[in-house]
Amino acid sequence: MKVICPQCKKEHNIDESKIPANAKSAQCRACGHRFPLFESVPQDVEPVRVTRRIGVTLSKGGVGKTTTSVNLAAGLALAGFKVLLVDTDTQGQAAYVLGLKPKAGLTELVTGELPAEAAMVEARENLWLLAGGRSLAGIKRLIDRKDYGGELTLAEALEPLEKEFDYVIVDTSPGWDPLTVNVLFYVNELITPVSLEVMTLQGLVEFLKSLASIQKYRGDVTLNYILPTFLDKRIKNPDGNRQTIRISPTIQIRNSCGCP
Ligand SMILES: Nc1ncnc2c1ncn2[C@@H]1O[C@H](COP(=O)(O)OP(=O)(O)OP(=O)(O)O)[C@@H](O)[C@H]1O
Ligand SMILES: [Mg+2]
Repeated sequence: MKVICPQCKKEHNIDESKIPANAKSAQCRACGHRFPLFESVPQDVEPVRVTRRIGVTLSKGGVGKTTTSVNLAAGLALAGFKVLLVDTDTQGQAAYVLGLKPKAGLTELVTGELPAEAAMVEARENLWLLAGGRSLAGIKRLIDRKDYGGELTLAEALEPLEKEFDYVIVDTSPGWDPLTVNVLFYVNELITPVSLEVMTLQGLVEFLKSLASIQKYRGDVTLNYILPTFLDKRIKNPDGNRQTIRISPTIQIRNSCGCP
């Protein structure tokens, strides 16, 4: 029997023989929503796919952006979601982490050299990769040369194929360049990995200022999650930096997961 969660629209195949006779409700394994079992969305209704576009970004380098992007994408794919991982970094390390050497990637999609099916590579079950790499330097020049609308280049390339996916996870390069701006004009949610040391926290404050300048033009991009990655216990008062994230008046985030 097929049950569709009314909240996240995920389809679950359930063995009817295992449902207790008195069961009245079910809980979605994907989003945790509890709903009446026999009043769920009728089976002939086509589930509506709402794609979540999540950017993993911080201008500071080496804080765990690629590690977070790849692991988040792979974890969601293992949970049964269809995931597209987009690498917008000229280092192209997402492919390396996944053990792949793709011949094409994001550059070929954006330039129109290849159709989406040829530009993407299936990295794992449910997980597709649009690889980054050195060729992305050409995309930055292409964006710079546009008279107007350069900041929408990535969105225009990704929007036609995103409806195939539950999640689009976008890894970004360190620094701040035309592709970073493009990512912020495409995604709706941001995860910012931070290593808990003073230079990164200062970088976070600067990044928030830059983000605020983008939000003037694109209000629907929100920093939802600040993800602490490294904590060096050898430094004096290592937990101080964790507290700094909590109390800093400049860091105001919408915490949609309701976590402390
Ligand atoms: N949570 C973690 N714990 C320990 N090591 C980590 C963690 N996250 C990432 N690393 C390691 O830290 C290094 C930098 O990580 P990563 O490449 O993901 O950072 P990045 O922000 O993508 O870097 P860049 O800005 O250069 O793109 C890597 O060697 C990675 O294996
Ligand atoms: Mg990286």
